[in-house]
Formats: sequence, C-alpha cells, structure tokens
Amino acid sequence: MEGKESGAISASGQKSIAKWENNKSLYQVLGAIAYGELKAYEGAKELAEKSVTPDISATYKKFAAQELRHHKGFVKRLVALGADPERAMKPYVDSLNQYHGKESGNEIQNAMWSFLGEGIASDLLRWLKEVVDTDTADFIDTVLNDEAQHEKYAEEKLRELIDRSPISKLRAAIAAREMLFRMASASGAKSAPFLAFLRLGQGHKLVAYLSTGYLKRLNNLGLTIYGNTAKKFSSLIAA
Ligand SMILES: [Fe+2]
Ligand SMILES: [Fe+2]
Repeated sequence: MEGKESGAISASGQKSIAKWENNKSLYQVLGAIAYGELKAYEGAKELAEKSVTPDISATYKKFAAQELRHHKGFVKRLVALGADPERAMKPYVDSLNQYHGKESGNEIQNAMWSFLGEGIASDLLRWLKEVVDTDTADFIDTVLNDEAQHEKYAEEKLRELIDRSPISKLRAAIAAREMLFRMASASGAKSAPFLAFLRLGQGHKLVAYLSTGYLKRLNNLGLTIYGNTAKKFSSLIAA
C-alpha cells in the first residue's frame, strides 16, 4: 500500500511512465481528480465536525482521512509522472469550489447529491483505471475500495430519508435531476479543461459508465428520471 501511495515505480510502471510523461490530458485529469479528492476531504471533515452523534462523527472522520489519502496519492502519482501537481489542479479549482459549495438547506437534496457524487466519482475512477499507467491503476483500486464504503453509507442515509413518505421519494427524484444541472453549471463555468477527459481516451466509455451508473443507482432506489441520460452526460462533459 505504501508503495502505491508513495508513487514507487515497479518495473512495468517504469515502462508505462515513459509513455505517459508529458501527456497533458493525463496531467489535467489527474489534477482534476486530485483536487476533487481534496474537496471531498474538506466536505467529510466538515460533516464530522458538525455531527452531534459520536458514531456518525467517527465515520465521517474516517472517510475524511481516506479522502486525504486519495488526494495525497493522486498528487504523488502526478509527481511520479513528471507533472507539477499545483499547476495540474489549478484549472479545476474554481469549478470544483463552485460545485462543492452548493449545499442546500434541504436534507433530501443534500443526501441525494452526496450519494450520487460518491457514485459518479467511482464511475469516473473505473474509466480512468482503464486509460492510465499501471501504477496509477493499482492506486485507483485502493481508492475504489474506500469509495464503495462511502457510497454504501451515503445510500443508507438517503434511503432512511426516502422511506419517510411518498413525497420524499418525489423530492429525491427532483434532487437527482438537479444534480445534472448542478454538474453542468459548475463544469460550464470553465469548460475547456474538462475536454481533457475526452482527449485522454475511451470518451464513449466514460459517458457510458457515468450514464449507466446514474440510472442504475436511481433504479435501485425505485426512482425514475425521464430523458436521455447518456446524452445529458455527453453534452455535460463536452459542453
Ligand atoms: Fe475519494
Ligand atoms: Fe468518497
């Protein structure tokens, strides 16, 4: 684990690093993800501090430590691949600050956004794992293990709220749809850096992972969203 986090280079990793060095799209995507992990850390830390229930606070504290490990791990991968992490993260700072700054006073909305946010992060990482060097892919596996716990916890909290009344279900469906607008308005602010995701490769797979993941999650909750979700994600990414 330590080797993966520290950016230690295996024999196969050496070979792949030569191939990936100076790959601007990869630097940008890793920069976006590294900064996203930092925002996830700040969010979980804030929830741990705000929670008055010791068990819940301890869970968010654990998640915050994991998000910080993810952030540091992606920063180390950027360094190992020859990039300047600060420079790589910079184009995404404003949009991700905007995206993470949009908490509402509505608890169902917050719970849905948190659940979908964890899921979208995992779908993104599954795609990334298929298009990066082997050492980064190995590190992503360790991140996905943590993210699965975060998503499960977020789902449990959301289900508790949804099960309260039929109107809660409707509110949850509306919040899921709003999530797409929330993502669009954040990425639309400075859209050019997000094209790096499509340039890196397998863009169609990225769109497929995101749209099927989104629909599968809503389906599992018994919610329906109308419209072409793949098209929405596609235009959102390439907006
Ligand atoms: Fe994370
Ligand atoms: Fe997470």
